[in-house]
Amino acid sequence: MLHDKLGWGIISTGRIAGSFARALATSRRGELVAVASRTAQAAEQFAATFKAPRWHASYEALLDDPAVQAVYIATPHPVHAEWAIRAAQAGKHILCEKPLTMNHAEAVDVIEAARRHDVFLMEAFMYRCHPQTHRLVELIRGGTIGEARVIQATFSFNAPYDPAGRIYANELGGGGILDVGCYCASMARLIAGVAAGGDFAEPTDVAGFGQVGPTGVDHHAVACLGFPGDIVANLATGVDVNMENVVRIFGSKGHVHVPTPWTPGTNGGTTRIHVHVEGKPHARTIPVQTDRWLFAIEADVVAENLDRRQARPPAMTWDDTLGNMKTLDRWRAAVGVAYHCERTGRA
Ligand SMILES: NC(=O)c1ccc[n+]([C@@H]2O[C@H](COP(=O)([O-])OP(=O)(O)OC[C@H]3O[C@@H](n4cnc5c(N)ncnc54)[C@H](OP(=O)(O)O)[C@@H]3O)[C@@H](O)[C@H]2O)c1
Repeated sequence: MLHDKLGWGIISTGRIAGSFARALATSRRGELVAVASRTAQAAEQFAATFKAPRWHASYEALLDDPAVQAVYIATPHPVHAEWAIRAAQAGKHILCEKPLTMNHAEAVDVIEAARRHDVFLMEAFMYRCHPQTHRLVELIRGGTIGEARVIQATFSFNAPYDPAGRIYANELGGGGILDVGCYCASMARLIAGVAAGGDFAEPTDVAGFGQVGPTGVDHHAVACLGFPGDIVANLATGVDVNMENVVRIFGSKGHVHVPTPWTPGTNGGTTRIHVHVEGKPHARTIPVQTDRWLFAIEADVVAENLDRRQARPPAMTWDDTLGNMKTLDRWRAAVGVAYHCERTGRA
């Protein structure tokens, strides 16, 4: 590294780019050095708001900036692959928002580019970097609830219908499965894998149902996954309905309830896991405390694992991402969601 701290460049000036920039200021090992937008005005404004020393009026210019060591890609999903591959070609380390790409085939290309150009790459499932997820893994691995048998994972929100906006537009990769259902799939695969003594597992069976709207993307959807070891999972997602965004894992001796599985400790602080052991009158609440913000922890995981080029589980490894993308492909196929970019053969 050129400095003590990893120099970050942010690609795009959208909602989550701002959250990452704000959190980066609280990270131990990262600093914001530049931002890029498709327009000079947005880049300049973002740089002023988040105190970025430099701004660029194109993503290409940021990739040419020698002060940028790592990029955070926070564009809509359909352009993740293009900018991740171009970042790898420019020798920049990469943290790319979820889903890494639109489908498994694109993910293979991105990972191949990272391998070929010898750069770090991680899909930005920030919850996988947080100590709460580490604690959950320990609980399952330690047999606290006996043998895990049923996993329930839900992530949804209710956004007003806008056929041109990122959440509903086909060309911007809209729909719940790719936007937040990807978290549910990644959690089920994590828990099923840990229960089997590994880091993640792949479902043998994926069944799905969903409601597809006029733009051809899923407004709400469910999936049932079957894993080796007789573990089953029930996933639910949606962009037009609020559900209870929790994870529950039921085992032979009890169950675990995670009330805030996806955004634990956004601004630091304490989150909680509840453990119910059969035969005990009260649940045990396990607090998990951090002094860093969620996205700062994620940025620090990148810096800590830079030399390995991949994060350590339960943060997302390359094979974990490939398995998740394949699961999402299967879920979408079951529901009947295909994107125009895929139909024209670009994806
Ligand atoms: N980890 C999390 O908690 C989390 C939360 C929300 C979203 N996300 C992920 O982050 C990504 C961005 O989500 P967001 O909610 O931040 O989206 P957003 O607010 O719509 O911002 C997306 C940004 O991408 C850039 N962009 C590039 N090509 C674009 C195009 N063709 N149309 C529109 N914008 C384009 C724009 O920035 P410029 O105009 O400056 O180029 C835009 O501001 C998504 O992949 C999403 O899955 C992650």
